[in-house]
Amino acid sequence: MAGTYILGIESSCDETAAAVVRSGEKVVSNVVFSQIAAHQPYGGVVPELASREHLKAIVPVVRKALADAGQTYQSIDAIAVTQGPGLAGALLVGITYAKAFALNKPLIAVNHLEGHIHAVLLEEREKDKREKENREIRFPVLALVVSGGHTHLYLADQRATGWSYKNIGHTRDDAAGEAFDKVAKLLGLRYPGGPVIDRLSTHGDPTAVKFPAAQLKHPDRRRDQGCIADAGAEPRFDFSYSGIKTSVLRYVEIHGLQASIESRRKALAGIEEPKLEDYLAHCDTKTLNLIASFQRAMVEDLAAKTLAAARACDAATIFVTGGVAANNELRQHFEQAASMEGVPLYFPSRPLSTDNAAMIAAAAYPKFLVRDFAAEDFSAEAAMKL
Ligand code: KG4
Ligand code: ZN
Repeated sequence: MAGTYILGIESSCDETAAAVVRSGEKVVSNVVFSQIAAHQPYGGVVPELASREHLKAIVPVVRKALADAGQTYQSIDAIAVTQGPGLAGALLVGITYAKAFALNKPLIAVNHLEGHIHAVLLEEREKDKREKENREIRFPVLALVVSGGHTHLYLADQRATGWSYKNIGHTRDDAAGEAFDKVAKLLGLRYPGGPVIDRLSTHGDPTAVKFPAAQLKHPDRRRDQGCIADAGAEPRFDFSYSGIKTSVLRYVEIHGLQASIESRRKALAGIEEPKLEDYLAHCDTKTLNLIASFQRAMVEDLAAKTLAAARACDAATIFVTGGVAANNELRQHFEQAASMEGVPLYFPSRPLSTDNAAMIAAAAYPKFLVRDFAAEDFSAEAAMKL
Protein backbone atom coordinates (compact mmCIF):
# COMPACT_ATOMS: atom_id res chain seq x y z
CA MET A 1 0.00 0.00 0.00
CA ALA A 2 1.30 3.48 -0.86
CA GLY A 3 2.56 5.73 1.92
CA THR A 4 5.68 6.40 3.92
CA TYR A 5 6.66 3.59 6.26
CA ILE A 6 8.78 4.66 9.23
CA LEU A 7 10.30 2.19 11.68
CA GLY A 8 10.42 3.78 15.15
CA ILE A 9 12.78 2.65 17.92
CA GLU A 10 12.41 3.67 21.58
CA SER A 11 14.80 2.76 24.41
CA SER A 12 14.90 5.80 26.71
CA CYS A 13 13.90 4.07 29.95
CA ASP A 14 12.62 0.60 30.83
CA GLU A 15 10.75 -0.34 27.67
CA THR A 16 12.42 -1.65 24.52
CA ALA A 17 10.00 -0.76 21.74
CA ALA A 18 9.78 -0.80 17.96
CA ALA A 19 6.88 0.04 15.65
CA VAL A 20 6.05 0.69 12.03
CA VAL A 21 3.77 3.67 11.30
CA ARG A 22 2.44 4.61 7.87
CA SER A 23 2.52 8.31 6.96
CA GLY A 24 2.15 9.43 10.59
CA GLU A 25 -1.44 8.22 10.67
CA LYS A 26 -1.62 4.43 10.88
CA VAL A 27 0.02 2.09 13.39
CA VAL A 28 0.97 -0.93 11.28
CA SER A 29 2.80 -2.73 14.10
CA ASN A 30 3.64 -1.87 17.69
CA VAL A 31 5.91 -4.04 19.86
CA VAL A 32 6.73 -3.11 23.46
CA PHE A 33 8.98 -5.26 25.60
CA SER A 34 8.68 -4.17 29.22
CA GLN A 35 11.64 -4.62 31.59
CA ILE A 36 9.46 -4.30 34.70
CA ALA A 37 10.22 -7.87 35.81
CA ALA A 38 14.00 -7.20 35.72
CA HIS A 39 13.76 -3.98 37.77
CA GLN A 40 11.02 -5.20 40.13
CA PRO A 41 13.36 -6.64 42.82
CA TYR A 42 15.05 -3.22 43.11
CA GLY A 43 11.79 -1.26 43.45
CA GLY A 44 12.66 1.03 40.52
CA VAL A 45 14.67 1.34 37.30
CA VAL A 46 18.38 0.47 37.61
CA PRO A 47 20.15 2.30 34.73
CA GLU A 48 22.91 -0.29 34.09
CA LEU A 49 20.38 -3.09 34.11
CA ALA A 50 18.18 -1.15 31.69
CA SER A 51 21.02 -0.84 29.14
CA ARG A 52 21.78 -4.55 29.37
CA GLU A 53 18.11 -5.49 28.96
CA HIS A 54 17.81 -3.20 25.91
CA LEU A 55 20.85 -4.90 24.37
CA LYS A 56 19.21 -8.28 24.76
CA ALA A 57 15.78 -7.21 23.52
CA ILE A 58 16.43 -4.79 20.70
CA VAL A 59 17.09 -7.25 17.86
CA PRO A 60 14.05 -9.50 18.46
CA VAL A 61 11.81 -6.49 19.15
CA VAL A 62 12.75 -4.75 15.87
CA ARG A 63 12.47 -8.01 13.94
CA LYS A 64 9.00 -8.62 15.34
CA ALA A 65 7.86 -5.05 14.55
CA LEU A 66 8.97 -5.48 10.92
CA ALA A 67 7.45 -8.96 10.62
CA ASP A 68 4.13 -7.91 12.21
CA ALA A 69 3.97 -5.05 9.71
CA GLY A 70 4.81 -7.30 6.75
CA GLN A 71 7.83 -5.05 6.10
CA THR A 72 11.55 -5.59 5.59
CA TYR A 73 14.63 -3.41 5.81
CA GLN A 74 14.32 -2.83 2.05
CA SER A 75 10.68 -1.77 2.13
CA ILE A 76 10.73 0.82 4.92
CA ASP A 77 11.41 4.44 4.00
CA ALA A 78 13.15 5.73 7.15
CA ILE A 79 14.21 4.86 10.67
CA ALA A 80 13.35 7.06 13.67
CA VAL A 81 14.94 6.76 17.08
CA THR A 82 14.59 8.49 20.46
CA GLN A 83 17.56 10.81 21.05
CA GLY A 84 16.53 11.93 24.55
CA PRO A 85 15.63 12.75 27.24
CA GLY A 86 16.21 9.52 29.15
CA LEU A 87 18.91 7.27 30.57
CA ALA A 88 22.14 7.89 28.64
CA GLY A 89 23.18 4.23 28.36
CA ALA A 90 19.68 3.08 27.47
CA LEU A 91 19.33 5.73 24.75
CA LEU A 92 22.74 4.77 23.32
CA VAL A 93 21.60 1.20 22.72
CA GLY A 94 18.68 2.36 20.56
CA ILE A 95 20.71 5.03 18.75
CA THR A 96 23.68 2.76 17.99
CA TYR A 97 21.40 0.03 16.74
CA ALA A 98 19.37 2.50 14.63
CA LYS A 99 22.55 3.93 13.08
CA ALA A 100 23.85 0.50 12.17
CA PHE A 101 20.46 -0.63 10.92
CA ALA A 102 19.76 2.52 8.87
CA LEU A 103 22.87 2.11 6.64
CA ASN A 104 21.84 4.31 3.74
CA LYS A 105 18.23 4.94 4.76
CA PRO A 106 17.27 8.31 6.26
CA LEU A 107 17.65 8.37 10.05
CA ILE A 108 15.50 10.74 12.12
CA ALA A 109 16.26 11.73 15.74
CA VAL A 110 13.16 12.30 17.88
CA ASN A 111 12.65 13.93 21.26
CA HIS A 112 10.78 11.49 23.52
CA LEU A 113 8.47 14.25 24.81
CA GLU A 114 7.56 15.25 21.25
CA GLY A 115 6.77 11.57 20.73
CA HIS A 116 4.26 11.58 23.61
CA ILE A 117 2.49 14.58 22.02
CA HIS A 118 2.39 12.88 18.61
CA ALA A 119 0.80 9.77 20.13
CA VAL A 120 -2.37 11.86 20.41
CA LEU A 121 -2.13 13.24 16.86
CA LEU A 122 -1.44 9.81 15.40
CA GLU A 123 -4.55 8.29 16.94
CA GLU A 124 -6.76 11.24 16.03
CA ARG A 125 -5.71 10.93 12.37
CA GLU A 126 -6.28 7.18 12.57
CA LYS A 127 -9.78 7.76 14.00
CA ASP A 128 -10.61 10.35 11.30
CA LYS A 129 -9.59 7.91 8.56
CA ARG A 130 -11.57 5.07 10.12
CA GLU A 131 -14.70 7.14 10.67
CA LYS A 132 -14.22 9.06 7.37
CA GLU A 133 -14.32 12.37 9.19
CA ASN A 134 -11.98 15.29 9.35
CA ARG A 135 -12.10 16.74 12.83
CA GLU A 136 -9.63 19.57 12.61
CA ILE A 137 -7.60 20.05 15.77
CA ARG A 138 -7.72 23.72 16.66
CA PHE A 139 -4.60 25.62 17.70
CA PRO A 140 -2.90 26.51 19.89
CA VAL A 141 -2.77 23.12 21.58
CA LEU A 142 -1.83 23.00 25.25
CA ALA A 143 -0.11 19.65 25.87
CA LEU A 144 0.50 18.22 29.35
CA VAL A 145 3.18 15.52 29.16
CA VAL A 146 2.88 13.67 32.46
CA SER A 147 5.14 10.65 32.93
CA GLY A 148 7.71 9.07 35.21
CA GLY A 149 10.35 11.67 34.32
CA HIS A 150 8.31 14.69 33.25
CA THR A 151 5.42 16.91 34.15
CA HIS A 152 5.70 19.52 31.41
CA LEU A 153 3.25 21.90 29.77
CA TYR A 154 3.79 22.94 26.16
CA LEU A 155 2.01 25.24 23.76
CA ALA A 156 2.24 23.38 20.47
CA ASP A 157 1.70 24.78 16.99
CA GLN A 158 1.97 23.38 13.50
CA ARG A 159 4.02 25.35 10.98
CA ALA A 160 4.91 24.73 7.32
CA THR A 161 8.38 23.62 8.41
CA GLY A 162 7.18 21.29 11.17
CA TRP A 163 5.99 21.56 14.74
CA SER A 164 6.97 24.19 17.29
CA TYR A 165 6.73 23.83 21.08
CA LYS A 166 6.95 26.40 23.83
CA ASN A 167 7.44 25.18 27.37
CA ILE A 168 5.24 27.17 29.75
CA GLY A 169 5.62 25.05 32.89
CA HIS A 170 7.32 22.04 34.40
CA THR A 171 7.84 20.34 37.72
CA ARG A 172 10.30 21.97 40.07
CA ASP A 173 11.18 18.63 41.68
CA ASP A 174 9.52 15.20 41.31
CA ALA A 175 7.50 14.34 38.21
CA ALA A 176 3.92 13.18 38.82
CA GLY A 177 4.71 9.57 37.83
CA GLU A 178 7.76 9.66 40.09
CA ALA A 179 5.49 10.70 42.98
CA PHE A 180 3.15 7.76 42.25
CA ASP A 181 6.16 5.41 42.16
CA LYS A 182 7.76 6.79 45.34
CA VAL A 183 4.51 6.79 47.33
CA ALA A 184 3.79 3.22 46.21
CA LYS A 185 7.28 2.19 47.28
CA LEU A 186 7.00 3.80 50.71
CA LEU A 187 3.65 2.08 51.22
CA GLY A 188 5.16 -1.33 50.40
CA LEU A 189 3.44 -1.63 47.00
CA ARG A 190 5.27 -2.83 43.93
CA TYR A 191 6.92 -0.99 41.04
CA PRO A 192 5.63 0.77 38.96
CA GLY A 193 3.36 2.48 41.46
CA GLY A 194 0.99 4.32 39.12
CA PRO A 195 -1.04 1.37 37.85
CA VAL A 196 -1.29 -0.18 41.37
CA ILE A 197 -2.42 3.07 42.99
CA ASP A 198 -4.88 3.59 40.12
CA ARG A 199 -6.59 0.24 40.83
CA LEU A 200 -6.48 0.46 44.64
CA SER A 201 -7.85 4.00 44.76
CA THR A 202 -11.39 2.91 43.92
CA HIS A 203 -11.40 0.93 47.19
CA GLY A 204 -10.60 3.89 49.46
CA ASP A 205 -12.19 7.20 50.46
CA PRO A 206 -10.47 9.99 48.47
CA THR A 207 -11.70 12.64 50.93
CA ALA A 208 -10.28 10.94 54.04
CA VAL A 209 -6.85 12.62 54.09
CA LYS A 210 -6.29 16.27 53.20
CA PHE A 211 -2.96 17.24 51.68
CA PRO A 212 -1.74 20.83 51.71
CA ALA A 213 -1.46 22.43 48.24
CA ALA A 214 2.10 22.56 46.87
CA GLN A 215 3.82 25.82 47.74
CA LEU A 216 5.85 27.18 44.84
CA LYS A 217 7.95 29.78 46.60
CA HIS A 218 9.56 32.61 44.71
CA PRO A 219 10.16 36.02 46.19
CA ASP A 220 8.71 38.93 44.28
CA ARG A 221 6.52 36.72 42.20
CA ARG A 222 2.83 36.99 41.62
CA ARG A 223 0.57 33.96 42.12
CA ASP A 224 -2.70 33.81 40.31
CA GLN A 225 -4.60 30.57 39.72
CA GLY A 226 -1.43 28.54 39.53
CA CYS A 227 0.30 31.15 37.40
CA ILE A 228 3.66 32.46 38.55
CA ALA A 229 5.38 35.38 36.86
CA ASP A 230 7.95 38.07 37.50
CA ALA A 231 6.71 41.52 36.61
CA GLY A 232 6.95 41.79 32.82
CA ALA A 233 7.99 38.16 32.38
CA GLU A 234 5.90 35.46 30.71
CA PRO A 235 3.57 33.52 33.02
CA ARG A 236 4.69 30.04 34.13
CA PHE A 237 2.60 27.14 35.34
CA ASP A 238 4.95 25.04 37.41
CA PHE A 239 4.26 21.89 39.44
CA SER A 240 5.87 20.41 42.56
CA TYR A 241 5.29 16.89 43.86
CA SER A 242 8.02 16.19 46.39
CA GLY A 243 5.95 17.79 49.18
CA ILE A 244 3.02 15.40 48.83
CA LYS A 245 5.39 12.42 49.09
CA THR A 246 6.72 13.87 52.37
CA SER A 247 3.14 14.40 53.60
CA VAL A 248 2.36 10.73 52.92
CA LEU A 249 5.49 9.73 54.84
CA ARG A 250 4.49 11.95 57.77
CA TYR A 251 0.99 10.42 57.79
CA VAL A 252 2.56 6.95 57.89
CA GLU A 253 4.71 7.93 60.89
CA ILE A 254 1.95 9.71 62.81
CA HIS A 255 -0.49 6.83 62.33
CA GLY A 256 2.07 4.12 63.02
CA LEU A 257 1.65 2.33 59.70
CA GLN A 258 5.28 1.14 59.36
CA ALA A 259 4.74 -2.39 60.70
CA SER A 260 1.82 -3.08 58.36
CA ILE A 261 3.85 -1.66 55.43
CA GLU A 262 6.71 -4.05 56.17
CA SER A 263 4.45 -7.08 56.36
CA ARG A 264 2.74 -6.01 53.10
CA ARG A 265 6.11 -5.61 51.38
CA LYS A 266 7.18 -9.09 52.49
CA ALA A 267 3.87 -10.72 51.55
CA LEU A 268 3.82 -9.14 48.07
CA ALA A 269 7.48 -10.04 47.44
CA GLY A 270 6.46 -13.68 47.78
CA ILE A 271 3.85 -13.43 45.01
CA GLU A 272 5.16 -13.52 41.45
CA GLU A 273 2.50 -11.33 39.87
CA PRO A 274 0.21 -9.95 42.57
CA LYS A 275 -3.41 -9.42 41.51
CA LEU A 276 -5.78 -6.76 42.82
CA GLU A 277 -7.15 -9.25 45.39
CA ASP A 278 -3.61 -9.86 46.69
CA TYR A 279 -3.07 -6.13 47.18
CA LEU A 280 -6.48 -5.72 48.81
CA ALA A 281 -5.84 -8.64 51.15
CA HIS A 282 -2.78 -6.79 52.46
CA CYS A 283 -4.17 -3.21 52.67
CA ASP A 284 -6.29 -1.99 55.60
CA THR A 285 -8.92 0.77 55.28
CA LYS A 286 -6.57 3.48 56.54
CA THR A 287 -4.01 2.62 53.87
CA LEU A 288 -6.63 2.43 51.11
CA ASN A 289 -8.00 5.83 52.18
CA LEU A 290 -4.47 7.27 52.13
CA ILE A 291 -3.87 5.89 48.62
CA ALA A 292 -7.19 7.20 47.28
CA SER A 293 -6.61 10.62 48.87
CA PHE A 294 -3.10 10.84 47.43
CA GLN A 295 -4.38 10.07 43.92
CA ARG A 296 -7.24 12.57 44.29
CA ALA A 297 -4.79 15.31 45.34
CA MET A 298 -2.45 14.56 42.41
CA VAL A 299 -5.26 14.52 39.86
CA GLU A 300 -6.85 17.72 41.17
CA ASP A 301 -3.54 19.58 41.14
CA LEU A 302 -2.61 18.43 37.61
CA ALA A 303 -6.04 19.37 36.25
CA ALA A 304 -6.29 22.73 38.06
CA LYS A 305 -2.86 23.88 36.84
CA THR A 306 -3.45 22.66 33.28
CA LEU A 307 -6.86 24.31 33.06
CA ALA A 308 -5.48 27.56 34.52
CA ALA A 309 -2.74 27.50 31.88
CA ALA A 310 -5.29 26.78 29.13
CA ARG A 311 -7.35 29.78 30.25
CA ALA A 312 -4.37 32.11 30.48
CA CYS A 313 -2.99 31.06 27.08
CA ASP A 314 -6.35 30.89 25.28
CA ALA A 315 -5.63 27.29 24.32
CA ALA A 316 -8.13 25.96 21.77
CA THR A 317 -7.40 22.31 22.58
CA ILE A 318 -5.85 20.32 25.45
CA PHE A 319 -3.77 17.14 25.09
CA VAL A 320 -2.89 15.00 28.13
CA THR A 321 -0.29 12.34 27.41
CA GLY A 322 2.49 10.22 29.00
CA GLY A 323 2.29 7.25 31.38
CA VAL A 324 0.23 9.00 34.08
CA ALA A 325 -2.40 9.88 31.43
CA ALA A 326 -3.39 6.19 31.63
CA ASN A 327 -4.85 6.90 35.10
CA ASN A 328 -8.63 6.38 35.28
CA GLU A 329 -9.47 9.07 37.80
CA LEU A 330 -7.21 11.54 35.98
CA ARG A 331 -9.08 10.93 32.71
CA GLN A 332 -12.49 11.37 34.34
CA HIS A 333 -11.47 14.48 36.24
CA PHE A 334 -9.86 16.16 33.21
CA GLU A 335 -12.88 15.31 31.08
CA GLN A 336 -15.25 16.98 33.55
CA ALA A 337 -13.03 20.02 34.01
CA ALA A 338 -12.41 20.53 30.28
CA SER A 339 -16.06 20.12 29.36
CA MET A 340 -17.05 22.73 31.98
CA GLU A 341 -14.46 25.00 30.42
CA GLY A 342 -15.67 24.16 26.89
CA VAL A 343 -12.21 23.12 25.66
CA PRO A 344 -11.81 19.96 23.55
CA LEU A 345 -9.61 17.41 25.34
CA TYR A 346 -7.66 14.51 23.84
CA PHE A 347 -5.84 11.54 25.41
CA PRO A 348 -3.96 8.77 23.63
CA SER A 349 -5.39 5.27 24.11
CA ARG A 350 -3.86 3.61 27.19
CA PRO A 351 -1.29 1.53 25.24
CA LEU A 352 -0.02 4.68 23.53
CA SER A 353 -0.03 6.76 26.77
CA THR A 354 2.89 4.80 28.22
CA ASP A 355 6.22 4.46 26.39
CA ASN A 356 6.05 3.01 22.88
CA ALA A 357 7.78 3.43 19.54
CA ALA A 358 4.70 4.21 17.42
CA MET A 359 4.75 7.71 18.89
CA ILE A 360 8.41 8.07 17.86
CA ALA A 361 7.68 7.01 14.28
CA ALA A 362 4.67 9.37 14.19
CA ALA A 363 6.70 12.36 15.45
CA ALA A 364 9.33 11.57 12.79
CA TYR A 365 6.90 11.83 9.86
CA PRO A 366 6.71 15.67 9.67
CA LYS A 367 10.53 15.69 9.89
CA PHE A 368 10.69 13.15 7.05
CA LEU A 369 8.55 15.44 4.89
CA VAL A 370 10.94 18.38 5.32
CA ARG A 371 14.03 16.08 5.13
CA ASP A 372 15.07 16.94 8.68
CA PHE A 373 17.45 13.98 9.03
CA ALA A 374 19.94 13.30 11.84
CA ALA A 375 23.61 14.13 11.36
CA GLU A 376 25.83 11.05 11.16
CA ASP A 377 27.56 11.91 14.45
CA PHE A 378 24.40 12.60 16.50
CA SER A 379 24.34 10.97 19.92
CA ALA A 380 22.18 10.48 23.02
CA GLU A 381 21.10 13.60 24.89
CA ALA A 382 20.04 12.48 28.36
CA ALA A 383 18.72 15.92 29.34
CA MET A 384 17.36 16.86 25.91
CA LYS A 385 14.89 19.74 26.04
CA LEU A 386 11.79 20.32 23.95
O1 KG4 B 1 5.56 7.62 29.84
P1 KG4 B 1 6.03 6.50 30.69
O2 KG4 B 1 5.67 5.10 30.26
O3 KG4 B 1 7.61 6.52 30.85
C1 KG4 B 1 8.30 7.74 31.04
O4 KG4 B 1 8.53 8.43 30.02
O5 KG4 B 1 8.55 8.04 32.23
O6 KG4 B 1 5.51 6.77 32.18
C2 KG4 B 1 5.78 5.89 33.24
C3 KG4 B 1 5.13 6.46 34.49
C4 KG4 B 1 5.47 5.69 35.75
O7 KG4 B 1 5.83 6.61 36.76
C5 KG4 B 1 4.16 4.99 36.09
O8 KG4 B 1 3.96 4.77 37.48
C6 KG4 B 1 3.14 5.97 35.56
O9 KG4 B 1 3.71 6.45 34.35
N1 KG4 B 1 1.85 5.33 35.27
C7 KG4 B 1 0.70 5.65 35.89
C8 KG4 B 1 -0.29 4.76 35.39
N2 KG4 B 1 0.30 3.95 34.46
C9 KG4 B 1 1.61 4.31 34.40
N3 KG4 B 1 0.43 6.57 36.84
C10 KG4 B 1 -0.83 6.64 37.30
N4 KG4 B 1 -1.83 5.83 36.87
C11 KG4 B 1 -1.60 4.88 35.93
N5 KG4 B 1 -2.60 4.09 35.52
ZN1 ZN C 1 7.66 8.49 28.29
